[in-house]
Amino acid sequence: MCGIVGYVGDRDATPVLVNALRKLEYRGYDSAGIAVIGPEGLVVRKAKGALRRLEELIATETIRGSCGIGHTRWATHGEPSDVNSHPHTDVSGRIAVVHNGIIENHAKLRAWLEGRGVAFRSQTDTEVIAHLVDHHYEGDLLKAVVAVMGRIEGSYALAVVCEDEPGKIVAVRKDSPLVVGLGKAENLIASDVPALLEYTREVVYLEDKEIAVLTRDRVDFFDGAGERLSKKPSHVDWDVAAAEKGGFEHFMLKEIHEQPKALTDTFRARVDGDGKVNLSEIGLDESWARARRVVITACGTAWHAGVVAKYAFERIARIPVDVDIASEFRYRSPLFDPSDIFIIISQSGETADTLAAMRMARSSGARVIAITNVVGSTLAREADLVMYTWAGPEIAVASTKAFTTQLMCVYLIAIRLAALRGALADADAARLVGELSRLPDSARAILDRQAEIQRFASQSFNKSKAFFMGRLFDYAISLESALKLKEISYTHSEAFAAGELKHGPIALVDDSTLVVAICTQRELFDKMDSNIKEVKARGATVLVVTFDGESYFDATADAVFRVPEAPGELTPILSVIPCQLYAYYCAIQRGLDPDKPRNLAKSVTVE
Ligand code: AGP
Repeated sequence: MCGIVGYVGDRDATPVLVNALRKLEYRGYDSAGIAVIGPEGLVVRKAKGALRRLEELIATETIRGSCGIGHTRWATHGEPSDVNSHPHTDVSGRIAVVHNGIIENHAKLRAWLEGRGVAFRSQTDTEVIAHLVDHHYEGDLLKAVVAVMGRIEGSYALAVVCEDEPGKIVAVRKDSPLVVGLGKAENLIASDVPALLEYTREVVYLEDKEIAVLTRDRVDFFDGAGERLSKKPSHVDWDVAAAEKGGFEHFMLKEIHEQPKALTDTFRARVDGDGKVNLSEIGLDESWARARRVVITACGTAWHAGVVAKYAFERIARIPVDVDIASEFRYRSPLFDPSDIFIIISQSGETADTLAAMRMARSSGARVIAITNVVGSTLAREADLVMYTWAGPEIAVASTKAFTTQLMCVYLIAIRLAALRGALADADAARLVGELSRLPDSARAILDRQAEIQRFASQSFNKSKAFFMGRLFDYAISLESALKLKEISYTHSEAFAAGELKHGPIALVDDSTLVVAICTQRELFDKMDSNIKEVKARGATVLVVTFDGESYFDATADAVFRVPEAPGELTPILSVIPCQLYAYYCAIQRGLDPDKPRNLAKSVTVE
């Protein structure tokens, strides 16, 4: 997730911008840049890599000017590179733009601008904005930005400066955060409060489609049509560390809460206005439909996304799927068919075993689709096709939003592949896409009820063992939920396919056991109810996760947590959320730091 800063006032803008960008480093980035307006006109400096590289670049010069914008980029469109870094400028180099978000119709706009003779320099979606502002600029930057807002679709926070109006920043947001900082003889803008706290604690949060026009002495606010608004400032009394976490106590909780937005970002850019899945961006065309088998490999949480994917691909696209843990796959003499489609899933794109599995697949002649969160990662660079999850940087070791966005990618690929193979009627595909579009709101509804999970965690966190059980898609989520609980709360937890209970695990069940039964597969409710009765009879405490309004398990369970109804194959995106929250609150109850679990690293780059 990119970071935006802007400054206008009496100080030299450059050190303020660099300092403010440093406060946004926690958001994750792969390049940084600034644009400053001064006596030399608009000066832009940017560099791939850490902020330190930008500082080295500007160390030998004096960039004069007290108005400027800055950016840390988390690559989405185009690899991390100097040229793809922000700010981006128009052809004449007098307008500069920094952007956080995704412009969904950038390809169309780019073609339109190229048709008018604009030569693009970068692969980014953002560069279209700089050229569009130039196109609409007639001496009033605010009016030009309003006109551009009418043409761009997607999510954005923008800050724009123009050499012809020095001492002015125009900023606007839609679905990406932006905060204005009100100072004395200076005003600032930033993606997040920590960047502002050294200069002011008086802030104004912009709402969607609200515009701020900043000069040294005032900030004016406008709506998306350019009509004046009045906004009330708020006083920030958090400390900087808390501010980086957006007011959440831990990154893990923040990332759990970011899921509705992350899911929307993942979904929205891949579905056309007519509700059809469009994966032309990743190049998934007819040639992929001839495969006889899909093979999925990954590690940890990403492997659990693969288990969901197996069930989803077989049900939706009617294609056989093998799913394997990457560290097993690479050493077990697997058999390859050149028509196989490999799907390799990895948040970081750098996991050693996962990369080794990908390289084996490619050297066998198979084609590889990568699902990853990190643009320019090794996996992204070496795979044949890449589908980015666009979850934004995941900082907590325990993966949450990366997992649910991986699932969103899986469903979109399954629906597209099904269409290419003629395995799904148009009406059924449209129904599934409609259901997918509802998941972000359903996820939000679950998060609104987190206090229920917090309460249950406070009553059950000291159980010595926890078993998660479910059938079909609920089994996959049991695997993921058990991993979440063990990695951050150190509770001994395991997952079982509920049908396996009688084949061994039930021997371990006693009154010190918590059993979480995930029950979202309606056709198997009666089977799950029997399994719950079996563990209850041996003294277990049972939490059931099922649907809103469903009373099937009320008589057998000790506690029921409800999630909004969704078709059985799509429920994993919802049913995992209460389990993520449960793991988080158990860790808190046990006095542990969920962001820094013992013995674990965020990215496992060695065997
Ligand atoms: C998840 O919470 C874990 N920390 C871990 O299992 C992780 O999913 C695994 O190491 C794979 O990482 P990757 O997605 O970056 O490849």
